[in-house]
Amino acid sequence: MPELQVGGRAWQVAAGANLLDALNSGGIAVPSSCRAGHCHSCRVRCVSGEPLDRLPQALLPQERAQGWRLACQCQVRDDLSVVPYDPRLHGVPAQVSELAWLAPNVLRLRLTPARPLRYSAGQHVLLWTEDGVARPYSFASLPGEAPWLEFHLQCGRPGAFADRARALAVGDSLRLGEVLGGPLQYDPAWDGRPLWLLASGTGLAPLWAILREALRQGHGGDIRVMHVARPGEHYLAAELQALAAKRPQLTIDLIPVEAGLENLRPLRQTLALACGRPGFVETTARRLYMAGLPRNQLFMDVFLEGAPAALEG
Ligand code: FES
Repeated sequence: MPELQVGGRAWQVAAGANLLDALNSGGIAVPSSCRAGHCHSCRVRCVSGEPLDRLPQALLPQERAQGWRLACQCQVRDDLSVVPYDPRLHGVPAQVSELAWLAPNVLRLRLTPARPLRYSAGQHVLLWTEDGVARPYSFASLPGEAPWLEFHLQCGRPGAFADRARALAVGDSLRLGEVLGGPLQYDPAWDGRPLWLLASGTGLAPLWAILREALRQGHGGDIRVMHVARPGEHYLAAELQALAAKRPQLTIDLIPVEAGLENLRPLRQTLALACGRPGFVETTARRLYMAGLPRNQLFMDVFLEGAPAALEG
């Protein structure tokens, strides 16, 4: 049986064991969210030995060359020595600068990082609590817009990060992990074409950033924002309506979750970005496709569900 080593500890694991499971069952608390290679919360650095990596393309070549691997995607074949990602060493310190409840379960978290962070609208970053709980969130802020980074946290469901988020206070410290590319972004080549932004719940967070990025870049086509939410959870409604009052090209549809998205009639040139829970994104994609939208004009960011955490807005 191969030996797994972390710091001064070593123990034997079954050949072929999943590295994340082997670490956690050996008492090394490595966080995880998606177990699918998306969130990167399970990254570890291999200092000796090489696991079988089932998703090498999930990391950049230079990261892999430094030994980083996603534990959820690796199997232990031979003796292996790893160092878990330590946000105190590798993360960027950040301070809570503002907290506001935008809806009963939606917390707006603003963080001031200790040094500037490079990111763009549509990307995610891992947020780490001081006690090592990690969860990825999409940026709702725009680079260069303000000194803070903004996130919209759905705190209505139980979860280790959400539990801690509810107890945060201004001045508290968090850590920012790596910035992760998301499937959503604004492409300046879309100028002049109809742009649809479809969100459920806090799926609005990245689309709020992308909307302002599109306007900042002078998008010349019509933009339609469709936000599906439960009663009382159409957060940012006033901000969206205020923006629409100044921008005739912008239409805002606040849609109750019971009504869902019906009668979608995209034009041939429409570009659609959808973000939210899997059921919403899958249904939206199917309806848009049935309505004639080519698949390559639809971009989706799905919040991954399941214990212990999910990719959230
Ligand atoms: S990438 Fe491994 S848990 Fe998400």
